[in-house]
Amino acid sequence: MSATGSGKYEHGLRGMQELADAVWTPGSRWHPGELAWARSQHLGREPDWPTRLWRQGSTVLAWGWVDLPGTLYLQVRPGSAELVGEVLAWAESVAAEALSVLVLDRERHLVEGLRANGYVESISDGPFFRRMVGGLAETPDVLLPKGFTIREATDLAARTELHRAAWHPSRVTLAGYTTVTRAWLYRRELDLVAHAPDGTPAAYCLGWLDSRGRVGVFEPVGTAPEFRGRGLGRAVCLAVMARMRGLGADTVTVLPRGDAAYPVPARLYAGLGLTPIGRTVVFTRAR
Ligand SMILES: CC(C)(COP(=O)(O)OP(=O)(O)OC[C@H]1O[C@@H](n2cnc3c(N)ncnc32)[C@H](O)[C@@H]1OP(=O)(O)O)[C@@H](O)C(=O)NCCC(=O)NCCS
Repeated sequence: MSATGSGKYEHGLRGMQELADAVWTPGSRWHPGELAWARSQHLGREPDWPTRLWRQGSTVLAWGWVDLPGTLYLQVRPGSAELVGEVLAWAESVAAEALSVLVLDRERHLVEGLRANGYVESISDGPFFRRMVGGLAETPDVLLPKGFTIREATDLAARTELHRAAWHPSRVTLAGYTTVTRAWLYRRELDLVAHAPDGTPAAYCLGWLDSRGRVGVFEPVGTAPEFRGRGLGRAVCLAVMARMRGLGADTVTVLPRGDAAYPVPARLYAGLGLTPIGRTVVFTRAR
């Protein structure tokens, strides 16, 4: 087995995605499309994101990603659960403060590995995320306000500006968005934008499929503030779902905020038929 640091996170991303793709279940924190977005959207973060991959030959067994000062994301093959301790030891050595380790509560082998290494669930009233999952067998028709149209994102500068408006204040730049479009599994046909009758970009949904083309994920979704509450988020997500289904997918998932302080995204996805099946939890070392 070998362990490699990845100074260049675009390079490490592909291996991280391959592991996410290989071990995906609805109880996973990371779909390979979520990793593509999370690692590509911001450029220049390498110094803040120490990352290490553990491989057996060309197969990635585990990875750890520290978001300095002290948040750890990790993924470990269930058959190699003993590596959880190695990932934690490495992360503790590079973190600038005590680690907060974020996993989904259904990732049993990670939860057990964390407990075995002296970590306990940290209870807080703060933000958390819910894994929501739905089927694609039947999706409602796409209904748009009069004169609105949905098209693929071909103008990347306009697409970037729309994202920035929806997520203001956002650090995503045209260069960052362009990097997203070069990531493994990005498909322009699942990057859809709803336009107002005068052509103004109003809402978008970026969908990703796993390599088998079975499980889609929304990451991210946004509506410009002046166009909210008109059914555009719903319409553009439904349009992506219809395309996912057309490509052979049977499942769609998303990871919105689950806490009461930020309820609208979960409401949007519930209206699309997705239901919650798990949530993120944070582990810290027992004192
Ligand atoms: C979440 C977001 C995309 C919703 O877009 P939108 O175009 O306003 O959504 P829609 O008009 O299609 O409404 C979807 C649902 O949310 C509800 N909703 C929309 N705005 C709401 C508000 N301010 N308060 C309460 N409910 C609201 C709608 O009533 C609808 O619910 P229903 O299906 O039960 O009728 C938009 O608020 C946004 O861009 N937020 C910032 C980025 C973000 O958080 N993205 C989601 C990441 S997972």
